[in-house]
Amino acid sequence: MRGAGGAGARIPMPAKREVLVFDDAGALFDAAAREVVRIAVDACKRRDFFTVVLAGGSTPRGLYERLAEKPYRRDIDWKSVDVYFGDERCVPPDDAASNFRMADEALLSRVPLPRRAIYRIRGELRPDLAAALYESTLRAAGAFGPMRWDLVLLGIGSDGHTASLFPGSPALRERRRLVVPTIGPTQPYARITLTLRALNLGRTVMFLAAGKEKAGAVRKVMAEAERARGASRAVLPAALVRPGRGRFLWFLDRAAASRLGKDRA
Ligand code: 6PG
Repeated sequence: MRGAGGAGARIPMPAKREVLVFDDAGALFDAAAREVVRIAVDACKRRDFFTVVLAGGSTPRGLYERLAEKPYRRDIDWKSVDVYFGDERCVPPDDAASNFRMADEALLSRVPLPRRAIYRIRGELRPDLAAALYESTLRAAGAFGPMRWDLVLLGIGSDGHTASLFPGSPALRERRRLVVPTIGPTQPYARITLTLRALNLGRTVMFLAAGKEKAGAVRKVMAEAERARGASRAVLPAALVRPGRGRFLWFLDRAAASRLGKDRA
């Protein structure tokens, strides 16, 4: 798989999906930071605000750290940013497993972002209550029109999950709610996640995947999403993410992309 440090090698994909492959994770995170800045500046020009849904897990940390540092930090008008989360583990915000804690350490506490602009999923509460509270927060934010995130960041697990939407979960069939409690296969089992309905509200949805352990899931998700071609026949959660009218970006390093292009027709 040809990779390219800065610009990324584009793989032709159907239906708006743009797949960019970078030599390594560092190049991926630099390019992703440039893209986040571009989206943020454009959103602030058009709508005076930039709303972003952060991904959890460990992969996005490299991106968040870059956004907190030169040259990217000064390019975003942080007082015009609202930060949401795609999912959270049901743990307190200072727990090592907390997605909020990871984002706070890597980015949120390091930039001049008003703390009131951080809409945290309250993982310390009972899961059904935390989900209901976050649902009302999202609806209040988008009360005067369909809530459209400017950017939704997502990771992918080796089983094809994304956010805390796991294969076979009833949450994949949720059509009305924006936030639901779920159970994951690994500790901490109890999670809160945005539903596909919420994730697909992104004007831009950006998946980030790095490392060989993601290569199988990336290939399966791409193949499944192509076969489904818009029908809901896809099964893997990450293949069910489809921002109807938005841009759909996959930022991969060469290791995560290493099985693309092998079995494709
Ligand atoms: C989480 C994330 C989850 C993550 C994937 C990939 O809460 O863990 O929302 O969907 O993006 O599991 O995780 P890594 O980036 O750690 O590989």
